[in-house]
Amino acid sequence: MNISVIGTGYVGLVTGVCFALLGNKVICTDNDERKINILKEGKLPIYEPGIYEIISDNYIKKNLEFTTDIKYSVKSSEIIIIAVGTPSNENGSTDITSVIKVAKDIANIIEEYKLIIIKSTVPPGTGKILNDEIKDIIKSRKVEIDFDIASNPEFLREGSAIKDFLNPDRIVIGVNNTRSQDLFKKIYALYFKFDTPIIFTNIETAEMIKYASNAFLASKISFINEISNMCELCNADVSIVSKAMGLDKRIGPEFLKPGPGYGGSCFPKDTKALFHMGKTLGYPPIIIKSTIDVNENQRIIAFQKIKNSVDKLKDKTITILGTAFKPGTDDIRESPSIQVIKMLNSEGSQIKVYDPLALKNTTKELNCLENIYYFKDLYDACSLSDCIVFFTEWDEFKNIDFSKLKLVVKTPNIVDLRNIFSLEEVEKHGFIYKGVGR
Ligand code: UDX
Repeated sequence: MNISVIGTGYVGLVTGVCFALLGNKVICTDNDERKINILKEGKLPIYEPGIYEIISDNYIKKNLEFTTDIKYSVKSSEIIIIAVGTPSNENGSTDITSVIKVAKDIANIIEEYKLIIIKSTVPPGTGKILNDEIKDIIKSRKVEIDFDIASNPEFLREGSAIKDFLNPDRIVIGVNNTRSQDLFKKIYALYFKFDTPIIFTNIETAEMIKYASNAFLASKISFINEISNMCELCNADVSIVSKAMGLDKRIGPEFLKPGPGYGGSCFPKDTKALFHMGKTLGYPPIIIKSTIDVNENQRIIAFQKIKNSVDKLKDKTITILGTAFKPGTDDIRESPSIQVIKMLNSEGSQIKVYDPLALKNTTKELNCLENIYYFKDLYDACSLSDCIVFFTEWDEFKNIDFSKLKLVVKTPNIVDLRNIFSLEEVEKHGFIYKGVGR
């Protein structure tokens, strides 16, 4: 099939590259010329394991094009996938202006049937809005052109997006006729062959499945964070609690690791959007509101934990190890460490930062702050530190050399917000250790 993907962010680029890998001719389109030029040079505007190897493959190069020319890419494709960003508005609602703008562009360009697939995360009802917008424009052009709108939300995790695309737990497709359904059966033919669970439903239901899935995963994290906070007050060990809970097949072990709260470009945005949507519809969802509140409070708890470990923060040196919102990515969006760094900095601490991948993004984000220093070496970042805080559970940190660390720090003090280490392991090297929920 000829597919055009509009938007080359984390979702759009992975989607385009993987559909090319599956044998389609794909044109990845973006209005950001800088991004497209980087891609045309065979480089990547984002970090995502495995993507570089695919776009460097000669077979793929023949099937994958990058352009800013949306007219060319829409005219050359029967299937158009909208994968542009849908950020949060101030009030928590989803900003769908980019999606609407792209839909209007498509409406002004098309001269023959197209299947227009919404892959961006959009509130239920957005498909109908786009359908009406496109219909109006085509009518105003005084032409008769047929099209279909569909919803095909993604469930990609940053850092494992290629794997998640090629081995999905399920594919969700929202359509309102068999013509669209048949086209989906073509582009997902391989998945049908290998019996991947494929859910066909209406567009609103497909749109809701995405929000409901993300909000549920986020609520699992806030739940275990609440349990973790209580474990600290009753001498219970949240790691064992989490393990024992996860052995119950109805609960499952995933997304039950306590920490400083979830970050990233999805959970914070999607939980707020779902809460706002419920309020607008007349049912303000209580569990989702609590998930958001617990998550925001978890950052304050992390800050307090650091503050309590150094008595007073002013003029103390705090080392932050890990600013990416999770391992395997350079993305720091909504990362708890960024918020806590700002709080520590405002209390007069000197901050030293190290992250294996996210240092560039961190420096850009925090360049307004003084008294903060960035290091390319973990041990340099810990030199003369009064407290080392582990925010992201990078594999690199798991093999840290504590005896070397002890020689460089000022005070042997560790706050491990991801329970990367065991108390015994750290204390035997003479460090004071604080984990979470233990
Ligand atoms: C998420 C969803 O997993 C994915 O399906 C959706 O398409 C996009 O949003 P992502 O945001 O990339 O993916 O990362 P994810 O691995 O889900 O982690 C999100 C946040 O939760 C991270 O900050 C992570 O540190 C945190 N987390 C995750 C926990 O604190 N505890 C856990 O047990 C799991």
